[in-house]
Amino acid sequence: MKSLQLTIRYDAIPEQELTGDDLRLVERAKAATQTSFSPYSHFRVGAAILLENGEIVSGSNQENASFTTGTCAERCAMFYANARYPDVAPVAIAIACYYGGSFTPEPGAPCGACRQVLSEVEHRYGRDLRVLLYGANHTYAFESMAELVPFQFNASNLE
Ligand code: THU
Repeated sequence: MKSLQLTIRYDAIPEQELTGDDLRLVERAKAATQTSFSPYSHFRVGAAILLENGEIVSGSNQENASFTTGTCAERCAMFYANARYPDVAPVAIAIACYYGGSFTPEPGAPCGACRQVLSEVEHRYGRDLRVLLYGANHTYAFESMAELVPFQFNASNLE
């Protein structure tokens, strides 16, 4: 038997140090929280996706009285991006959470279902998807979904 260990590399970036595309994307994710439909959880999530053509697509969590039919912000944004621009690779995603009148101090991480969807996108387009998890205290930045989800089930498992 061998005992193995994994290290996940990520940066913690204070808000005032966000620049360029990272800053633009985080601002769009923060704005998208305000389009959330979340009368049940009151937890507003916004996601913004930068495509390789420079376009930014955003989405938010959309809840439903039949709880399980709602969807998370990340999937809302990513499925829209893929449907609108099927041939354009997404290169980065930012996620922000707003609760009780302010942005959460700590970053919110994508749920398991969203991790699966975002991982498939990275695999499908063959490009790293940079992941920015915004929190008022700091934004966590991961170079790729593979960094966040090291063991993936994807199309290569079905070959
Ligand atoms: N939510 C997201 O939009 N993204 C996630 O990754 C985690 C959770 C939403 C789903 C639900 O509308 C609310 O946050 C509370 O779980």
